[in-house]
Amino acid sequence: MNLGVKIGRVDLASPLIGASGLFGYGTEHEGLLDYASFGAIVTKTVTLAPREGNPPPRLVDVGSGIINSIGLENVGVEAFMADHLPGLDLPCKVFVSIGGAEVDEYARLASMLDALGRREVPNRSDAPGRSNAPDGSDAPNRSDGSGRIDALEVNISCPNVKKGGIAFGQDPFSTRQVVSAVREATRYPVIVKVPPLISGIEQVCRAACDAGADALTVANTYPAMAIDIDRARPVLGALSGGLSGGAIKPVSLLLVWKAARCVDVPILAGGGIETARDAIEYILAGAHALQIGSVILKCTGAPASIMAGIEDYMKTHGYGSIGDFRGKAAE
Ligand SMILES: Cc1cc2nc3c(=O)[nH]c(=O)nc-3n(C[C@H](O)[C@H](O)[C@H](O)COP(=O)(O)O)c2cc1C
Repeated sequence: MNLGVKIGRVDLASPLIGASGLFGYGTEHEGLLDYASFGAIVTKTVTLAPREGNPPPRLVDVGSGIINSIGLENVGVEAFMADHLPGLDLPCKVFVSIGGAEVDEYARLASMLDALGRREVPNRSDAPGRSNAPDGSDAPNRSDGSGRIDALEVNISCPNVKKGGIAFGQDPFSTRQVVSAVREATRYPVIVKVPPLISGIEQVCRAACDAGADALTVANTYPAMAIDIDRARPVLGALSGGLSGGAIKPVSLLLVWKAARCVDVPILAGGGIETARDAIEYILAGAHALQIGSVILKCTGAPASIMAGIEDYMKTHGYGSIGDFRGKAAE
């Protein structure tokens, strides 16, 4: 049975991908998580300058999901490249998420990360055969501590920042501008994370692909709020945030279905995946891979049980690979 999937030119041993923001810079869950269940981890979105994020409280449990208003708190790209990327030695691929307030910021981030991947270094004896070059060529493995990157995920869908973020992914024109700028600045595979647009998702997906996206992540969190009825005030310091978790799965499933019908690139589905059943629904809707997010806050064993459930399903139905049932619900 083959559980591997191909995202553009990147081969993943498993269809599960750790979603951005839930796995820090990739090493925070060491000892708690079995990274071998994952085909890849997406690191926390980095921006050019460090960001403090929004005022607390920044996370609220609303029963059917959680609302977060982290606000892209991150160390900034230079500290990420110097202090975090070098320590990344996971048994899965690493996708680096980038975000910005201006088109140029995305382009500069992509070009800085690209330059890092092009540095000539001698082969590393303990990790033979791995390519770190942005163009996927047989370039040597990193031994200079500069880490490894397999693809960039362009976050044009964060609802928690005042400038940029979701604003870029809300119309096809600005989507095209950001994705073209990133495409020109890097030879890494480019994955574009689109916002959960109830109407118009097709236009934004097409614009991203026309501008050179190799894959799409569908989708991010949904703008939402919670009110503390005793204080008669919004719970979150930023007033509103992004809803994730079980509550959003049926809505994001429809978006994945729509996206898979309008573009040819692989779709990385994300939104409320908690069980193997959720994951299988997304694959039947047309997803190539599955981003695992909030569930990890409740249960670190979820990825392993999702994989076991997918395998059982494939055995029961006689499927030899994920491709055998991808998009089958639409046939
Ligand atoms: C605490 C938290 C932080 C997040 N930070 C980011 C982020 O930095 N960049 C990003 O693209 N998405 C971020 N997300 C969104 C997730 O990557 C994912 O798209 C979303 O939570 C939906 O998946 P889920 O329902 O499985 O959690 C964050 C989500 C949560 C809950």
